Amino acid sequence: MQINVTTRLPRTADNACQLVFLYADGKLKGAARKIDSESQGSIKALYASGDFCGKNAETLLLHGLPGTPASRVLLVGLGNRNEQSAAIWRKASKAASKALLATPASLAISDLLNTVSMEGTTAAIMAEQLAVDLIASSYVFTLHTRSEKPVQPALSELVLSIDKGRLDAVSEAVIRGQSTASGMSVARDLGNLAPNICTPAYLADQALAMAEQHDNMATTIVDEEEMELMGMGAFLAVSRGSRQPGKLIVMEYQGRKKAGKPIVLVGKGVTFDTGGISIKNSEGMDEMKYDMCGAASVFGAMHAIALLNLPLNVIGIVAAAENMPDGDACRPGDVVTSLSGQTIEILNTDAEGRLVLCDALTYAERFKPDTVIDMATLTGACIIALGHVASAVIGNDQNTIDALLTAGEQTGDRCWSLPLWDDYQPQLDSNFADLANIGGRPAGAITAACFLSRFARKFNWAHLDIAGTAWNSGKEKGATGRPVPLLMQFLFNQLD
Ligand code: BES
Ligand code: MN
Ligand code: ZN
Repeated sequence: MQINVTTRLPRTADNACQLVFLYADGKLKGAARKIDSESQGSIKALYASGDFCGKNAETLLLHGLPGTPASRVLLVGLGNRNEQSAAIWRKASKAASKALLATPASLAISDLLNTVSMEGTTAAIMAEQLAVDLIASSYVFTLHTRSEKPVQPALSELVLSIDKGRLDAVSEAVIRGQSTASGMSVARDLGNLAPNICTPAYLADQALAMAEQHDNMATTIVDEEEMELMGMGAFLAVSRGSRQPGKLIVMEYQGRKKAGKPIVLVGKGVTFDTGGISIKNSEGMDEMKYDMCGAASVFGAMHAIALLNLPLNVIGIVAAAENMPDGDACRPGDVVTSLSGQTIEILNTDAEGRLVLCDALTYAERFKPDTVIDMATLTGACIIALGHVASAVIGNDQNTIDALLTAGEQTGDRCWSLPLWDDYQPQLDSNFADLANIGGRPAGAITAACFLSRFARKFNWAHLDIAGTAWNSGKEKGATGRPVPLLMQFLFNQLD
């Protein structure tokens, strides 16, 4: 999707759609006013008849109006003029994107940045959000289908006008939005890929290919043999039941000259989670191909970071393994030694995410990180707690947690914090090892994070449980690309 920012909209626009954003009060400005006056008050008439009220996220498509070079005009409601916020804008932006992509228009034009101002946002923030929504809404998964018919939407270009003074800021924001959306697409493609294709080795190849594309990125793959030598007994306990060898994937991006302390992003990359010997019910088990969505978000973020050449040092670590039942699989009752030296009693082989992650967290120590953030589809309990609306954030550093909460509010890719109080830690006590890998039913999302916290003592750390947010089930089944927008905003805020 090409997005151009100019001081003047084009005078001729073939097969186009003009986007017009309107409040509920029906006061018209800019293009809306021009169209209305040249069409004998057709927009005002729609308000009068109740066909369009300007309700937030309401849309109405009109054809053949004078006063615009576009053959279509899409009206989009912003709601009450005195109830503006970034959240209202997000709703309008998403609705506009959906309605626009449903038309056969190949070009969209809009003067919205000059005619709409919203409390809590700027023209740049609005443009960034629209760029993200437009590209994210046009996402289609095509990697497993024959591409004979055109499945892509017709729209290929958006032109936004803005005054000269804000042109640079808005252009920069649009590029951020495009890159974030591109990162989301990377994450969604990896998530949606079938688990027979998207194996740990496949993910490793993708990371190597990504490093090929960017001068300031380098990928290292740690294979099982090396993990054995290092003593990553927790990770290996998971992957030993699979014919697919596990991979620890390390992507190092250096965007700053000085070898400053890096931000480390760690992703759970369980390419398929059967539960292992503690096997899951078969109903809906196909969705456990999404158990690598934490890893996918690391790939998505690294991709966007490199596209933008962000002046940060960021390391992405992906713990990629498949959790299968097998004659050689680990059993409930097994005791393994993690890379940290702590021993773990595996009481449930379905609590495998924390086992691969704990060794990845210990591995992260060698980078002397400023901050470590891990992303994981870790617990069903997280979905019970927060549903499909928010990811859970839990960590040992309040600044990092606050920064993630803020980035979530800014983007709508929200997270909500759960407590990491010591009171929960005894649930992980084991009679036979330093700790157990499960803490019982109560507070399952918290005890999973408690487990990880034992391996994150040497750095500032926050964990995002994305079990409820990384993909949609049902008719709209598919990866969402979350929490890439959250991560990108977190990183952008580190720059400012
Ligand atoms: N990948 C699952 C968590 C999950 C389940 C995410 C369903 C999204 C939807 C994870 O590996 C798991 O199986 N967790 C167990 C932990 C339990 C055994 C302590 C769970 O949540 O049931
Ligand atoms: Mn599991
Ligand atoms: Zn899992």
